[in-house]
Amino acid sequence: MMYFGVIGYPIKHSVSPAMHNAAMKKARIDGIYLAFEVKPEMLRDAVFGAKALGFTGLNVTIPFKEEVAKLVKLEGHAAKLKAVNTIDLRKMVGYNTDVYGVKASFSDVDVDGKVALVIGAGGAGKAATLALIELGATVVLTNRTESRGVEAVEMLRRYGNCIFHPYDRVGELKGKIDILVNATPIGMKGFTQKLPVPPEILQPDMVVFDTVYNPPETPLIREAKKAGCKVIYGVEMLIHQGAKAFEIWTDVKPDVSVMREAAINALKNSFIPKA
Ligand SMILES: NC(=O)c1ccc[n+]([C@@H]2O[C@H](COP(=O)([O-])OP(=O)(O)OC[C@H]3O[C@@H](n4cnc5c(N)ncnc54)[C@H](OP(=O)(O)O)[C@@H]3O)[C@@H](O)[C@H]2O)c1
Repeated sequence: MMYFGVIGYPIKHSVSPAMHNAAMKKARIDGIYLAFEVKPEMLRDAVFGAKALGFTGLNVTIPFKEEVAKLVKLEGHAAKLKAVNTIDLRKMVGYNTDVYGVKASFSDVDVDGKVALVIGAGGAGKAATLALIELGATVVLTNRTESRGVEAVEMLRRYGNCIFHPYDRVGELKGKIDILVNATPIGMKGFTQKLPVPPEILQPDMVVFDTVYNPPETPLIREAKKAGCKVIYGVEMLIHQGAKAFEIWTDVKPDVSVMREAAINALKNSFIPKA
C-alpha cells in the first residue's frame, strides 16, 4: 500500500483526498491519501515523520509552501519560486506543480505575446505569473501590499517580461490587457469583497481566470461572462496540479476527468456550468 497526504494549517475543506483517492481507484493503485492539519511548529517533524512512516509523497498547502522549500531539494519551478506544493519523500525532492496547473488551465488559449494582469503576489499569484511568462505573455502584476508585489516582480522578471502596477490604479489598465488572473481570495465563499478589480476592466474577448474554486462560479467569473469574456475556472488549476503530483509519485498519468468529477462532488452542491 502507498501512503500520501496533504499538510496545511488549517486544512479542513481540502478536496485533494477525494481527487487523489478517486484517481488511485481508477488507476488500480493500492494507496490512500489523507489530509493532515499540522501546527506550524510541528512542520519539520511532520515531513520527516511521514518519510519515516514510509509515505511516498505529500502535498503542501497554506501556509507551508515556502517553509517546506527549506527542507528538501528543489526541482524546476520549485527552485525558481522557492515554494513547494509537492514532495517526493523517497528522494526528498520538492516540486511546484501549481505552475503546471496554471499552464494546463490555459491549454486552449494562445498566451504568447499577450498582456496578462495578475492580481496577487502570494503563492498562487507567483505561480500564475511564472506560468504565463513561460507561455510568452508579458505579465503586469498588481498587489494590495505594494512592497510584496514589487519583491515578487523582482524575482520573476528574471524568467520573462514582468512589471508591477499599483493596485489602486488598476482601472488605468482598461483596454490594455488580454488576460486577467485573480490570485487573491476575493470571491471565496464567506469573503465580503466580491470583485478584485473594477468591473469596467472586463472587456469582450478577454480571458479571465479565477484561481478561487470555492464556489466554482465566483462573482468575477459571473461578471466576466456577462462582459463577453472567456472564463477559466479555478478548479482546473486544482485538478491539474494534483494530476501532476500524482504522476510524479506513481509514474502513472491519472484520469483527469475522474479527478474533476471527484473535486466537483467534494466541493458539494457546486457545479461548473459550460463557459
Ligand atoms: N485553484 C487552485 O489550485 C489554487 C491554488 C492555490 C491558491 N488558490 C487561490 O488563490 C488564493 C490565494 O492563495 P495564495 O496561496 O496565493 O495565498 P497567499 O500567499 O496568502 O496570498 C494572498 C494574496 O491575496 C492578496 N489579498 C488577500 N486579501 C486581499 C484583499 N482583501 N484585497 C486585495 N488583495 C488581497 C494578498 O495581498 P497582500 O500581499 O496585500 O496581503 C496576496 O497577494 C486562495 O484564496 C485560493 O482561493 C487556488
